[in-house]
Amino acid sequence: MNGFVWKPATVGEALQATVSFFARQGIDSPRLEAEVLLAFGLGVNRAGLLAALRDRLPEEQAAGLGELVQKRLTGCPLQYITGRQEFWGLDFTVTPAVLIPRPETELLVETALALLGRSPKTGDTWIADVGVGSGAIAVSVAREIATAQVLALDVSAAALAVARQNAKGHGVAERIRFVEGDLLNPAIDGGLRLKAVLSNPPYIPAGEIPSLQREVACFEPMLALDGGDDGLALYRRLAPQARRALEPGGFVAWEIGYNQGRDVAALLAAQGFAEVRIIPDGQGHDRVVTGVFRGECEDEGED
Ligand SMILES: C[S@@+](CC[C@H](N)C(=O)[O-])C[C@H]1O[C@@H](n2cnc3c(N)ncnc32)[C@H](O)[C@@H]1O
Repeated sequence: MNGFVWKPATVGEALQATVSFFARQGIDSPRLEAEVLLAFGLGVNRAGLLAALRDRLPEEQAAGLGELVQKRLTGCPLQYITGRQEFWGLDFTVTPAVLIPRPETELLVETALALLGRSPKTGDTWIADVGVGSGAIAVSVAREIATAQVLALDVSAAALAVARQNAKGHGVAERIRFVEGDLLNPAIDGGLRLKAVLSNPPYIPAGEIPSLQREVACFEPMLALDGGDDGLALYRRLAPQARRALEPGGFVAWEIGYNQGRDVAALLAAQGFAEVRIIPDGQGHDRVVTGVFRGECEDEGED
């Protein structure tokens, strides 16, 4: 890489050099990222790194750290290098086969938990997470609701393997069924009646993907991003499927793009969902949409 001169003699020099490379590259929070990356490379936590700033760096170790720094400078997200991301207070394994879980998605978990808390308790509470990815949503919900059984669906076998690993790590694998398939088809084919259909599907309009940050556009899985021409392709297919798979009184809670609230709410309303709500995030952008399935009505489709 051009201009990459790397000859740190101590941990402190390595940190200083990394912060300045990252700042020049325009990486947000260069100091934090540098600390996390070097701590990872040295096999210590951040406190350990800071305690070792004066330690000499053997040449081989310095070279190893240099490789990590260069990898990050190619645009590879920090989380794919360290293999870790925190979500809902839990530590998740992530690989390039899965979307890196985002803090915004915690609003979906929070919303779903509030709606589930309100639902009448029945023997079997089956909740689907469509497009499970790393398992961020499925695992967090299973951890919060001890009686919940989760159907974790994804078209990507590699993503399902990561989700399964996370479920095991957090002690909820016995209550999560992992199934490879297209959207809710496996639930419908299996005749499973669901209490809730949760999803953070791909929702970026295809034409906008190239203009996203390099970290996202070039490194995160296209399958996790591409929502078709207008970003709504998966919601359009998921809405009628959810209506078929939900039990009366069940609900959907879906993450959406910052300006997709009206369109996704309209798709749900067109399928007869009631109490359709658009929930904004902390910045006031559309973030989650919910709707309740009341059951099939005689006069459905008339309004
Ligand atoms: C935006 S990611 C969400 C991952 C995770 N649920 C999260 O919130 O971090 C979307 C996921 O949907 C999956 N996916 C894409 N198309 C799908 C389809 N037709 N059926 C099932 N899953 C799909 C992708 O493989 C990806 O894992």
